[in-house]
Amino acid sequence: MENFTEHIASIDAAVAAEPDVQSALDRAVSMLKARVPDYTWVGIYLLQGDELVLGPYRGKTSPHTAIPLGRGICGAAATEKATIIVDDVNADPRYLACSLETKSEIVVPIMDGDRVLGEIDIDSDRPAAFGNADRQLLEAVAARLARRLSA
Ligand code: SME
Repeated sequence: MENFTEHIASIDAAVAAEPDVQSALDRAVSMLKARVPDYTWVGIYLLQGDELVLGPYRGKTSPHTAIPLGRGICGAAATEKATIIVDDVNADPRYLACSLETKSEIVVPIMDGDRVLGEIDIDSDRPAAFGNADRQLLEAVAARLARRLSA
């Protein structure tokens, strides 16, 4: 990914400057979608009870507005409290289809210490679109969002 350290710095500053949590989440989503061409669908799910509830997103309307913790790649990442990268979603039995064009996915938990607050979920129309730079970028953004969500 090009300009990845610049993306972190810009998104970090923008998220910190937003006046409230909801606008901070929305700003992060819109900046990620605008800056990285491979990011076809970008959304944030927030953990409410034992469900991941869809918050701000950019891309096609998702049928998955509330995902139980045990389901999907989203549910797996929240349960494992770890980033999951799937190179080929059609080969992963956990995958909950959102769009027929989606080929790969990354899900990054938003953590406050050991507690899952939510996650960043990104789909790409390109197979194996996500690598270490995406993981580092999104884990940095997730850390900034965690600070806003837990403040
Ligand atoms: N694919 C996700 C569901 C959410 S959509 O991608 C927006 C999953 O398997 O958890």
